[in-house]
Amino acid sequence: MKALLLAGGNGSRLFPVTLGVSKQLLPVYDKPMVYYPLSVLMLAGIREVLLISTTEDISQYQRLLGDGSQWGIMLQYKVQSQPKGVAEAFLLGEDFIGEDPVCLILGDNIFYGIDFSVQLEAVVDRTKLGQKGTIFGYTVKDPQRYGVIEFDEQGKTLSIEEKPEQPKSNQAVVGLYFYPNEVVSVAKQTTPSDRGELEITAVNEHFLKAGKLEVETLGRGFAWLDTGTHESLLEAGQFIETIEKRQGIKIGCLEEVAYQKGYSSKEQLLKQAQKLKGTSYGDYLIQRYSH
Ligand code: G1P
Repeated sequence: MKALLLAGGNGSRLFPVTLGVSKQLLPVYDKPMVYYPLSVLMLAGIREVLLISTTEDISQYQRLLGDGSQWGIMLQYKVQSQPKGVAEAFLLGEDFIGEDPVCLILGDNIFYGIDFSVQLEAVVDRTKLGQKGTIFGYTVKDPQRYGVIEFDEQGKTLSIEEKPEQPKSNQAVVGLYFYPNEVVSVAKQTTPSDRGELEITAVNEHFLKAGKLEVETLGRGFAWLDTGTHESLLEAGQFIETIEKRQGIKIGCLEEVAYQKGYSSKEQLLKQAQKLKGTSYGDYLIQRYSH
Protein backbone atom coordinates (compact mmCIF):
# COMPACT_ATOMS: atom_id res chain seq x y z
CA MET A 1 0.00 0.00 0.00
CA LYS A 2 1.23 3.47 -0.94
CA ALA A 3 0.17 6.76 0.67
CA LEU A 4 -0.31 10.32 -0.48
CA LEU A 5 0.20 13.05 2.12
CA LEU A 6 -1.37 16.30 1.00
CA ALA A 7 0.40 19.36 2.37
CA GLY A 8 -0.65 22.00 -0.15
CA GLY A 9 -3.20 24.79 -0.13
CA ASN A 10 -2.59 28.44 0.62
CA GLY A 11 -3.75 28.35 4.24
CA SER A 12 -5.72 31.54 3.67
CA ARG A 13 -7.78 31.12 6.85
CA LEU A 14 -4.57 31.43 8.86
CA PHE A 15 -3.24 34.59 7.17
CA PRO A 16 -0.96 36.39 7.98
CA VAL A 17 0.65 33.41 9.76
CA THR A 18 0.75 31.36 6.55
CA LEU A 19 1.81 34.16 4.20
CA GLY A 20 5.43 33.16 4.70
CA VAL A 21 5.25 29.50 5.69
CA SER A 22 3.26 26.46 4.65
CA LYS A 23 0.46 25.67 7.07
CA GLN A 24 1.47 22.05 7.62
CA LEU A 25 4.90 23.18 8.81
CA LEU A 26 3.46 25.24 11.64
CA PRO A 27 4.07 23.89 15.13
CA VAL A 28 1.45 21.85 16.94
CA TYR A 29 2.99 22.15 20.40
CA ASP A 30 6.45 20.59 20.07
CA LYS A 31 6.68 19.37 16.49
CA PRO A 32 5.66 20.38 12.98
CA MET A 33 2.03 19.65 12.07
CA VAL A 34 3.03 17.26 9.26
CA TYR A 35 4.66 14.88 11.77
CA TYR A 36 1.21 13.86 13.04
CA PRO A 37 -0.30 12.59 9.78
CA LEU A 38 3.04 11.04 8.81
CA SER A 39 3.06 9.14 12.11
CA VAL A 40 -0.48 7.88 11.35
CA LEU A 41 0.72 6.43 8.03
CA MET A 42 3.67 4.76 9.74
CA LEU A 43 1.39 3.34 12.42
CA ALA A 44 -0.82 1.93 9.66
CA GLY A 45 2.22 0.05 8.34
CA ILE A 46 2.63 2.20 5.24
CA ARG A 47 6.25 2.95 4.35
CA GLU A 48 6.07 4.48 0.87
CA VAL A 49 4.74 8.03 0.95
CA LEU A 50 4.39 10.75 -1.68
CA LEU A 51 4.20 14.21 -0.12
CA ILE A 52 2.39 16.74 -2.30
CA SER A 53 2.83 20.48 -1.76
CA THR A 54 3.07 23.76 -3.62
CA THR A 55 5.89 24.94 -5.89
CA GLU A 56 7.06 27.42 -3.22
CA ASP A 57 6.84 25.06 -0.24
CA ILE A 58 8.01 21.64 -1.47
CA SER A 59 11.70 22.34 -0.75
CA GLN A 60 10.88 23.15 2.90
CA TYR A 61 9.33 19.70 3.30
CA GLN A 62 12.36 18.10 1.66
CA ARG A 63 14.60 19.96 4.09
CA LEU A 64 12.54 18.87 7.08
CA LEU A 65 11.81 15.25 6.16
CA GLY A 66 14.46 14.21 3.63
CA ASP A 67 14.09 10.82 1.97
CA GLY A 68 12.60 9.23 5.10
CA SER A 69 15.44 6.72 5.51
CA GLN A 70 16.14 8.07 9.01
CA TRP A 71 12.77 6.55 9.97
CA GLY A 72 13.03 3.48 7.74
CA ILE A 73 10.47 4.78 5.25
CA MET A 74 10.62 6.08 1.67
CA LEU A 75 9.49 9.64 1.04
CA GLN A 76 9.02 11.15 -2.39
CA TYR A 77 7.78 14.61 -3.35
CA LYS A 78 5.44 16.06 -5.96
CA VAL A 79 4.39 19.62 -6.71
CA GLN A 80 0.74 20.62 -7.00
CA SER A 81 1.11 23.87 -8.94
CA GLN A 82 -2.50 25.05 -8.50
CA PRO A 83 -4.87 24.26 -5.62
CA LYS A 84 -7.18 22.13 -7.76
CA GLY A 85 -8.62 20.02 -4.99
CA VAL A 86 -7.91 17.04 -2.76
CA ALA A 87 -8.79 14.43 -5.42
CA GLU A 88 -6.15 15.82 -7.79
CA ALA A 89 -3.65 14.01 -5.56
CA PHE A 90 -4.53 10.75 -7.32
CA LEU A 91 -3.71 12.25 -10.71
CA LEU A 92 -0.45 13.78 -9.48
CA GLY A 93 0.41 10.50 -7.78
CA GLU A 94 -0.55 8.16 -10.61
CA ASP A 95 2.99 6.99 -11.47
CA PHE A 96 3.93 6.70 -7.80
CA ILE A 97 0.81 4.64 -7.02
CA GLY A 98 1.39 2.28 -9.93
CA GLU A 99 -0.74 -0.84 -9.46
CA ASP A 100 -1.08 -0.55 -5.68
CA PRO A 101 -3.95 0.33 -3.38
CA VAL A 102 -3.55 3.75 -1.83
CA CYS A 103 -4.20 5.76 1.31
CA LEU A 104 -4.68 9.52 1.28
CA ILE A 105 -4.18 11.66 4.37
CA LEU A 106 -4.55 15.41 4.73
CA GLY A 107 -1.50 17.05 6.25
CA ASP A 108 -3.52 19.22 8.63
CA ASN A 109 -5.50 16.42 10.29
CA ILE A 110 -4.53 15.21 13.75
CA PHE A 111 -5.73 11.86 15.08
CA TYR A 112 -5.30 10.46 18.56
CA GLY A 113 -6.97 7.46 20.09
CA ILE A 114 -6.59 4.11 21.72
CA ASP A 115 -5.80 1.17 19.41
CA PHE A 116 -5.97 3.40 16.33
CA SER A 117 -3.02 1.59 14.77
CA VAL A 118 -4.81 -1.77 15.19
CA GLN A 119 -7.89 -0.37 13.46
CA LEU A 120 -5.76 1.08 10.67
CA GLU A 121 -3.81 -2.12 10.07
CA ALA A 122 -7.11 -3.99 9.68
CA VAL A 123 -8.33 -1.42 7.13
CA VAL A 124 -5.04 -1.68 5.23
CA ASP A 125 -5.35 -5.50 5.07
CA ARG A 126 -8.97 -5.30 3.92
CA THR A 127 -8.16 -2.69 1.26
CA LYS A 128 -5.27 -4.79 -0.08
CA LEU A 129 -7.51 -7.85 -0.44
CA GLY A 130 -10.76 -6.32 -1.63
CA GLN A 131 -12.22 -3.79 -4.01
CA LYS A 132 -13.68 -1.45 -1.41
CA GLY A 133 -12.62 1.93 -0.13
CA THR A 134 -12.88 3.00 3.52
CA ILE A 135 -13.61 6.40 5.00
CA PHE A 136 -14.12 7.41 8.62
CA GLY A 137 -16.86 9.45 10.26
CA TYR A 138 -16.53 11.52 13.42
CA THR A 139 -19.20 13.39 15.37
CA VAL A 140 -18.73 17.15 15.27
CA LYS A 141 -20.69 20.18 16.39
CA ASP A 142 -20.17 22.06 13.09
CA PRO A 143 -20.64 19.49 10.27
CA GLN A 144 -21.27 22.14 7.60
CA ARG A 145 -17.49 22.75 7.52
CA TYR A 146 -16.81 19.21 6.28
CA GLY A 147 -17.96 16.32 4.11
CA VAL A 148 -21.08 14.97 5.85
CA ILE A 149 -22.32 11.38 5.92
CA GLU A 150 -26.04 10.57 5.98
CA PHE A 151 -27.10 7.22 7.48
CA ASP A 152 -30.45 5.43 7.52
CA GLU A 153 -31.93 3.95 10.70
CA GLN A 154 -30.03 0.70 10.18
CA GLY A 155 -26.76 2.62 9.96
CA LYS A 156 -26.43 2.15 6.20
CA THR A 157 -24.72 5.04 4.42
CA LEU A 158 -27.14 6.96 2.19
CA SER A 159 -25.17 9.96 0.97
CA ILE A 160 -22.06 12.05 1.41
CA GLU A 161 -22.28 15.79 0.82
CA GLU A 162 -19.45 18.33 0.73
CA LYS A 163 -19.94 21.25 3.13
CA PRO A 164 -23.77 21.23 2.98
CA GLU A 165 -25.63 24.26 4.31
CA GLN A 166 -28.20 21.91 5.83
CA PRO A 167 -26.19 18.90 7.06
CA LYS A 168 -28.15 15.65 7.19
CA SER A 169 -26.17 14.44 10.22
CA ASN A 170 -23.35 15.55 12.47
CA GLN A 171 -20.96 12.87 11.11
CA ALA A 172 -18.02 14.56 9.39
CA VAL A 173 -15.73 12.75 6.97
CA VAL A 174 -12.20 12.91 8.37
CA GLY A 175 -9.18 13.51 6.16
CA LEU A 176 -8.01 9.89 5.96
CA TYR A 177 -9.11 7.65 3.09
CA PHE A 178 -8.23 4.16 1.84
CA TYR A 179 -8.92 2.98 -1.71
CA PRO A 180 -8.23 0.16 -4.11
CA ASN A 181 -6.13 1.11 -7.16
CA GLU A 182 -9.32 1.90 -9.08
CA VAL A 183 -9.39 5.29 -7.33
CA VAL A 184 -6.99 6.71 -9.91
CA SER A 185 -9.46 6.15 -12.75
CA VAL A 186 -12.35 7.30 -10.57
CA ALA A 187 -10.53 10.58 -9.80
CA LYS A 188 -9.86 11.07 -13.53
CA GLN A 189 -13.60 10.90 -14.22
CA THR A 190 -14.56 13.54 -11.64
CA THR A 191 -15.26 17.10 -12.75
CA PRO A 192 -14.56 20.27 -10.78
CA SER A 193 -17.19 21.38 -8.25
CA ASP A 194 -18.73 24.85 -7.97
CA ARG A 195 -15.67 25.96 -5.98
CA GLY A 196 -13.50 24.77 -8.91
CA GLU A 197 -11.97 21.77 -7.11
CA LEU A 198 -11.78 18.04 -7.73
CA GLU A 199 -13.59 17.02 -4.56
CA ILE A 200 -12.69 13.94 -2.57
CA THR A 201 -16.40 13.76 -1.78
CA ALA A 202 -17.14 13.14 -5.49
CA VAL A 203 -14.72 10.19 -5.39
CA ASN A 204 -16.40 8.86 -2.26
CA GLU A 205 -19.87 9.23 -3.79
CA HIS A 206 -18.70 7.18 -6.75
CA PHE A 207 -17.51 4.33 -4.49
CA LEU A 208 -20.69 4.61 -2.41
CA LYS A 209 -22.99 4.33 -5.45
CA ALA A 210 -21.01 1.33 -6.69
CA GLY A 211 -21.51 -0.37 -3.30
CA LYS A 212 -17.76 -0.23 -2.70
CA LEU A 213 -17.43 2.06 0.29
CA GLU A 214 -17.04 1.07 3.94
CA VAL A 215 -17.71 3.76 6.53
CA GLU A 216 -16.14 3.26 9.95
CA THR A 217 -16.75 5.58 12.85
CA LEU A 218 -14.21 7.02 15.21
CA GLY A 219 -16.17 7.05 18.41
CA ARG A 220 -16.44 8.85 21.70
CA GLY A 221 -13.07 9.28 23.34
CA PHE A 222 -11.26 9.51 20.04
CA ALA A 223 -9.72 12.86 19.12
CA TRP A 224 -9.85 14.13 15.56
CA LEU A 225 -8.53 17.66 15.67
CA ASP A 226 -8.75 20.45 13.22
CA THR A 227 -6.06 23.07 12.66
CA GLY A 228 -7.89 25.25 10.15
CA THR A 229 -8.39 28.34 12.28
CA HIS A 230 -6.23 30.20 14.79
CA GLU A 231 -8.38 28.90 17.66
CA SER A 232 -8.41 25.26 16.56
CA LEU A 233 -4.66 25.32 15.86
CA LEU A 234 -4.00 26.62 19.36
CA GLU A 235 -6.42 24.11 20.88
CA ALA A 236 -4.76 21.24 19.03
CA GLY A 237 -1.39 22.31 20.46
CA GLN A 238 -2.86 22.54 23.95
CA PHE A 239 -4.43 19.10 23.61
CA ILE A 240 -1.10 17.53 22.61
CA GLU A 241 0.67 19.39 25.43
CA THR A 242 -1.86 18.20 28.01
CA ILE A 243 -1.58 14.52 27.10
CA GLU A 244 2.19 14.57 26.62
CA LYS A 245 2.83 16.34 29.94
CA ARG A 246 0.45 14.18 31.90
CA GLN A 247 1.69 10.85 30.56
CA GLY A 248 5.29 11.68 29.74
CA ILE A 249 4.77 10.03 26.35
CA LYS A 250 4.99 11.83 23.04
CA ILE A 251 2.38 11.82 20.28
CA GLY A 252 3.55 11.78 16.66
CA CYS A 253 7.21 11.24 17.55
CA LEU A 254 8.49 9.77 14.28
CA GLU A 255 11.71 8.25 15.64
CA GLU A 256 9.76 6.45 18.35
CA VAL A 257 7.07 5.18 15.96
CA ALA A 258 9.75 3.97 13.52
CA TYR A 259 11.55 2.08 16.27
CA GLN A 260 8.38 0.59 17.75
CA LYS A 261 7.19 -0.58 14.34
CA GLY A 262 10.58 -2.17 13.61
CA TYR A 263 11.40 0.20 10.72
CA SER A 264 14.54 1.54 12.38
CA SER A 265 17.06 0.37 14.97
CA LYS A 266 17.69 1.84 18.39
CA GLU A 267 21.03 3.10 17.03
CA GLN A 268 19.23 5.03 14.30
CA LEU A 269 16.79 6.44 16.82
CA LEU A 270 19.60 7.63 19.08
CA LYS A 271 21.54 9.10 16.17
CA GLN A 272 18.52 11.20 15.27
CA ALA A 273 17.94 12.10 18.91
CA GLN A 274 21.53 13.33 19.32
CA LYS A 275 20.88 15.95 16.63
CA LEU A 276 18.02 17.27 18.76
CA LYS A 277 19.81 17.08 22.12
CA GLY A 278 18.88 19.89 24.47
CA THR A 279 15.29 20.06 23.22
CA SER A 280 12.37 18.36 24.95
CA TYR A 281 11.91 16.19 21.84
CA GLY A 282 15.52 15.03 21.62
CA ASP A 283 15.99 14.58 25.36
CA TYR A 284 12.77 12.55 25.56
CA LEU A 285 14.17 10.05 23.06
CA ILE A 286 17.60 9.96 24.72
CA GLN A 287 16.15 9.40 28.19
CA ARG A 288 13.72 6.71 27.03
CA TYR A 289 15.93 4.72 24.72
CA SER A 290 19.60 5.13 25.68
CA HIS A 291 19.74 2.15 28.04
C1 G1P B 1 -11.60 18.38 3.06
C2 G1P B 1 -12.70 17.52 2.44
C3 G1P B 1 -13.85 17.33 3.44
C4 G1P B 1 -13.30 16.73 4.73
C5 G1P B 1 -12.18 17.62 5.29
C6 G1P B 1 -11.50 16.97 6.48
O1 G1P B 1 -12.09 19.68 3.24
O2 G1P B 1 -13.15 18.14 1.24
O3 G1P B 1 -14.80 16.44 2.89
O4 G1P B 1 -14.35 16.62 5.68
O5 G1P B 1 -11.17 17.85 4.30
O6 G1P B 1 -10.50 17.79 7.04
P1 G1P B 1 -11.16 20.99 2.99
O7 G1P B 1 -10.03 20.86 3.95
O8 G1P B 1 -10.71 20.90 1.57
O9 G1P B 1 -12.04 22.14 3.26
